[in-house]
Amino acid sequence: MCGIVGYIGERQATEVCLAGLKRLEYRGYDSAGIAVVQDDGTLEVTKVVGKLANLAQALEEQPVDGTLGVGHTRWATHGKPSKINSHPHTSNDGRIALVHNGIIENYAELRDQLTEEGFEFVSETDTEVIVHLVDKYYDGDLAEAFRMAARDLEGAFAVGIVCADNPDQMVAARRFSPLVVGIGEGENFIASDMGAVREWTDQVYVIDDDEMAVITRDSIELTDLEGNPVEREPYTIPWPADAAQKGGHKHFMHKEIHEQPRAMRECLLGRLSDPEKSINLEGLNMSEQEIQSLRKVVFTACGTAYHAGLVGRFLMEKLARIPSEADLAAELRARDPVVLDGTLAIVVSQSGETADTLVALRELKEKGAKVVSVVNVVDSSIARESDGVVYIQAGPEIGVASTKAYTLQILTIALIVAHFADVRGAASEHELIELRRAMLKLPEQAQELLEREEDVKRVAEKYYESPNALYLGRGVNLPSAMEGALKLKEISYIHAEGYSAGEMKHGPIALVEPNLFTVAIAVKGDVYDKMIGNIQEIKARSGPVIGVAFDGDTEIPRQADDVLWVPECPELVSPVTTAIPLQLLSYHIADMLGREIDQPRNLAKTVTVE
Ligand code: F6R
Repeated sequence: MCGIVGYIGERQATEVCLAGLKRLEYRGYDSAGIAVVQDDGTLEVTKVVGKLANLAQALEEQPVDGTLGVGHTRWATHGKPSKINSHPHTSNDGRIALVHNGIIENYAELRDQLTEEGFEFVSETDTEVIVHLVDKYYDGDLAEAFRMAARDLEGAFAVGIVCADNPDQMVAARRFSPLVVGIGEGENFIASDMGAVREWTDQVYVIDDDEMAVITRDSIELTDLEGNPVEREPYTIPWPADAAQKGGHKHFMHKEIHEQPRAMRECLLGRLSDPEKSINLEGLNMSEQEIQSLRKVVFTACGTAYHAGLVGRFLMEKLARIPSEADLAAELRARDPVVLDGTLAIVVSQSGETADTLVALRELKEKGAKVVSVVNVVDSSIARESDGVVYIQAGPEIGVASTKAYTLQILTIALIVAHFADVRGAASEHELIELRRAMLKLPEQAQELLEREEDVKRVAEKYYESPNALYLGRGVNLPSAMEGALKLKEISYIHAEGYSAGEMKHGPIALVEPNLFTVAIAVKGDVYDKMIGNIQEIKARSGPVIGVAFDGDTEIPRQADDVLWVPECPELVSPVTTAIPLQLLSYHIADMLGREIDQPRNLAKTVTVE
C-alpha cells in the first residue's frame, strides 16, 4: 500500500524522489522517508511522520547531497506510523538502505532467526527483515545478496535498495507488488507506478513477479530472481507529462469529476461510433462461440469498483440474459465458491493492484473460470493475470475517492454487455440500437451535468452540516445509492448509508428525522412509482429529501425538498449520469467542511494488502 521511488543520475536524488513521491502520495501518507548515497560515500537517511510536506521541510532544514537515492511514502500495516517504523530501513552498519511496498508474511519467523544470528531490530515492521537478510548475504554484490534474500521471503514485495559501497548502483525487485523502471538518458528511475516517473520519461519497463533490475546511470539489467536475463520491450506511457497535475482545479477529485466527458469519449473511441454498428472490443479475447456458450457471469471487485460490478450484474441479466452475480472480492474466497463450466469472471479494478481483487481473480481462475478484467492502469497485475482485458481508458486517477473510474467502469461494462447481448441474440436489433445510441450520448450528457455544478453546490450548502444521510435507490440505481453514500462518507466523514429503497421499511426508516437527509434516486423507469412511494414515506416522517430526477419531471419537485436534475436517458444507462451530481454533492459538502478531499483520513488509493 506504500509508494516507492528511486533515482540514479546527475540530479539531486532528494528532488527527484520528493517529486515522484508526491505523485504516489495517494498510496499512503502516514509517514515518509528518503535515503541518499552522498557524494562522500556515506548513506544519509531522513524520515518523518505525516505527509510529504514534512519530509520536504526536513530536507530543506537539513539538505542532503547525492545523486542516488530511494524514497518511500507509507501506509502502516505492521507497526504504527512513527519515525522508527517509516522507510527506508537500514542495515545495522547503516550502509544498506531499503524501501518496500508489500507484506512479508513470514517476517516473525525470520525476525527470530536473524535476531539469534546477531542482527539488531529497531522497528516493528515486517520490512526490516529484508534489509537484514540482504546485509546477511552481502559480500560486495548487492544484487546477488538480494537474490539470496528473496529465497527466504514469503509474501509480497516491491523493493528499492541502495548501498553506500556502490554509488553507481540501485537494485529493485518485485513479487506481487507493482514496480516499474523508468528509462532516462544518463539517469534511471524506479517507482510503484508510471505516473511517478512520467515527469522525466515516457519509457518504462514494467517489472513482473519474481523479477529484478540492476540499475546504473547508463544501464538497466533485467533478470529473474535466479539471475537469468529477462528480455523486455519498453512500454510507452500514453498520457502527457502534465496529466497528473491538478490543471487549475482545487483538488484532483474535482479535476477528475470534470474529466469524465472527455474520458467517456476516449473510452468509446474505436469501440462504438455508430449506433447501427456492432461494438468492437479489442482485448476482450473471447470468440463468438465462447460468448454464446457462457452459462454464468461473476463480477468481483472492491469498494466503488464493486458498485460498478453490481450495475454490471443487473445489466448482464436484464440485457444479455446470462445468470449473473456480483461478489465482494474480500468475501469471495471464504465460501469456496462453486465455479460451473462456462463461467466468466469479470474483475473490476481501477488500479489493477487491489490485493483482495487479485486474490479473488486467482481463485476464480484456478477453479476454471475465464477471466476478463475491466481495469484502468495498463499492464497492472490484474490486467496481466486476466485472459482478456478491456481498459476503461480513464487516464490517471489520483484523488483517493474514485470518480471518473466509476462511471467509466460502468460504461465499459455496458459495452461488454451490449456486445454479449448482440452476439447471443438476447436483445432485439431495435433495443441494441437504442442502447448504443444512449451510450454515445453519455459524454455530452456528462458535460451538461458538470455545467449544473452551481445548482449542486447550492444543495450542498443546505445540507453540509447534517450528521447523517441516507441514499436510496432501486433496480439498476441501487448501486448508485450505495456509491453516493460511499463517496459522501469517505471524503466528508458524514455517516451515510446506501440502501435499497424497498428495504427501508424493514429497518432503516427508524433513523428518519429532520437531521438526516435522504437522497432518493428517482429517475423515470421501471421503479419510478415505487420510489415516489418511498419518498412520501420519508416526508411523512419529517425527513428532508433530495430527489435525483430526469429533466422535465413534474412529480419529484412536488415531493422532494430539493432536486438534482439529470438529462433524460434510458434507465439502464442512468447509473452513469446519476453518479455525477452525487460526486459533486459529496465533493462540495466535504469542501465546505474543510476536509482533505484528495487524501481522506485512514484511506489509501491502492489497497495492496488483504
Ligand atoms: C472509493 C474507492 C475504493 C476503491 C477500491 C477498489 O472511492 O476508490 O473503494 O474503489 O479500493 O480499488 P480498485 O478499483 O483500484 O481495485
